[in-house]
Amino acid sequence: MIENMRMSGDWQVGKGAIADLCYCPTELKIVNLEMSKIDFSELEGNENLITMADFSGGDGLQIHRMYEYVKAKGLNPAAYYNEMHTTRFNTAMERYSHLDNFNMVNTDFFFLKCRHKNGNAYKKENIAIIRNNPPYTFIEQHGQTVRAEEAFFLENSLLNASEGVHIFELPIHQLTGIENLLKKILYRYEAVHIFKFPKKDFLRYKQVVVIGVRKKTNSADLEKAEILRNRLINDQIPYLDDDDKPVVKLSSRAVNSCKPINVYRDGRVNDVTLSNGYNQVISSVWDKVSKSTNKHLMTIKERGKPIIEKLIGNQAMELNAGAFNGIQGNSVLIKGGYEKEIVVTEEMEGTTKVTTRTEVIKPTIAVTNKVGDILVKGQL
Ligand SMILES: C[S@@+](CC[C@H](N)C(=O)[O-])C[C@H]1O[C@@H](n2cnc3c(N)ncnc32)[C@H](O)[C@@H]1O
Repeated sequence: MIENMRMSGDWQVGKGAIADLCYCPTELKIVNLEMSKIDFSELEGNENLITMADFSGGDGLQIHRMYEYVKAKGLNPAAYYNEMHTTRFNTAMERYSHLDNFNMVNTDFFFLKCRHKNGNAYKKENIAIIRNNPPYTFIEQHGQTVRAEEAFFLENSLLNASEGVHIFELPIHQLTGIENLLKKILYRYEAVHIFKFPKKDFLRYKQVVVIGVRKKTNSADLEKAEILRNRLINDQIPYLDDDDKPVVKLSSRAVNSCKPINVYRDGRVNDVTLSNGYNQVISSVWDKVSKSTNKHLMTIKERGKPIIEKLIGNQAMELNAGAFNGIQGNSVLIKGGYEKEIVVTEEMEGTTKVTTRTEVIKPTIAVTNKVGDILVKGQL
């Protein structure tokens, strides 16, 4: 099947199908057990945001549970959720988009940008706790077929703050079977612990969870990789629910180093253009809504300034490609799309009338509020 997808050359179809195939959401009791392995004691009284992400987030239940878990500790959670599958994303939007600091994006993780402008440089490592339950499959990257578990691990670890925690779930045979995966984990993470899912779940799904702390400086630890490999092979790995003792500490340094970030899907959009463009769309929407007698349906006919300092054609392309889909503030959902139209032109060539029919693509934008009213829907 993967081969067929590759041969078809239609990568979007392939990826969508993969998202459909690999849906293995984790039960919330397991999310609780994983969170109990983190020692939050150093953070008592810390008022900074505890940034947490799940960039292959399913319908958002697990990252939401983490958000509630941290809140129950009297801390301030900020969740960053992404999901490529539209139905799952929409389900999550309905459930969680009203929550404070619950940021949601609907894109392919490998096109997601997630960073904060720190002085003159962009800083990527802003997530204190990464949740990573990737699809268990092959994917194509840069013309190579690779295991998604490894690709998601590597990409996620780039976003993890130094001394932040990574919770990585995968099938036990992939942890030993993917060449050098353990070495790659140990290169980037210390205090690495591996647990089998609780016995009943493990017998069914053979999943394990790797929990580790992001190193300040990457360094090989071949010895520890070998020790863990032997433990896995010899079935010397504890179950997650054997006890509820924390095994890793989330440091205040990790949390304090994380800044609230922007998550978006296109490298051409940066923090400045994104927030400028976004604020402008929102204010033009509210302006029009307040003047309108029909508050539920209106059309943008003309636009003033370009929304992201680009020509109208560039904006249209980005909206059309969904560059802003799912971005929200004041609980407003923006969705770009397109509609096909046949434009008929009639010209005279000498005395003969010539009719030309041309198919044109018209970009559209819909802006929906949290109770589902469509505030703006129309062509650009
Ligand atoms: C194993 S499920 C994990 C769901 C949830 N995060 C959990 O912990 O149970 C993997 C999810 O990744 C999504 N997915 C697959 N490929 C993706 C991609 N390239 N970018 C973002 N999400 C993707 C799938 O649609 C699926 O919902």
